[in-house]
Amino acid sequence: MSFDAFNIVRGLHILAVIAWMAGMLFLPRLYAYDAEQADKAEPLRSEMQALLREWQRRLLKIIVNPAMVAAWVFGVWMIAIHVYGFGEGWAFLARPWMATKLLAVVALSGWHGFLAGEFRRIGAGTSVRTGRFWRMSNEIPFLIAVVAVLSVTTEWTFG
Ligand code: HEM
Repeated sequence: MSFDAFNIVRGLHILAVIAWMAGMLFLPRLYAYDAEQADKAEPLRSEMQALLREWQRRLLKIIVNPAMVAAWVFGVWMIAIHVYGFGEGWAFLARPWMATKLLAVVALSGWHGFLAGEFRRIGAGTSVRTGRFWRMSNEIPFLIAVVAVLSVTTEWTFG
């Protein structure tokens, strides 16, 4: 049992990641429902889209954005503990599993940016994405998360 700073920050990091991933996996479903209102008659279409866009806004602004910031803050904090606290130096970031992890989190952050951009485009009526696109693309963040988690749990290296 160890309640040292590293383990507390690690736990908070995992909690932030749970919220970030949960939000990023649900948001595209709301986008799919929104896109699928296109063939509905008025006024139902406008009413449904107004409701869905309010849910999208709340999920993005209250859960997904803050959770991403928290995941990065606690993640970078652990990097600082490795580099300075444990005296591993910046070579820590070049360890194969850590470099893989960083590539995965940069990709996830890019996906987050794409989802945030689509939120604005959906609101402006300029998004060209279909419900089918949102249902199919939802595997992408999950697959990247598999890479991020397995790289830290295995700490893989060459040879
Ligand atoms: C947002 C940027 C992120 C940074 C800078 C970051 C960095 C880190 C660092 C330095 C550790 C400690 C590794 C160790 O010493 O064992 C860690 C642990 C961990 N990270 Fe991240 N991470 C980030 C995002 C993510 C994401 C998106 C996921 C999952 C989808 C994730 C899952 C984990 C897990 C499960 C652990 C705990 C591993 C263990 O205790 O063995 N992280 N992270």
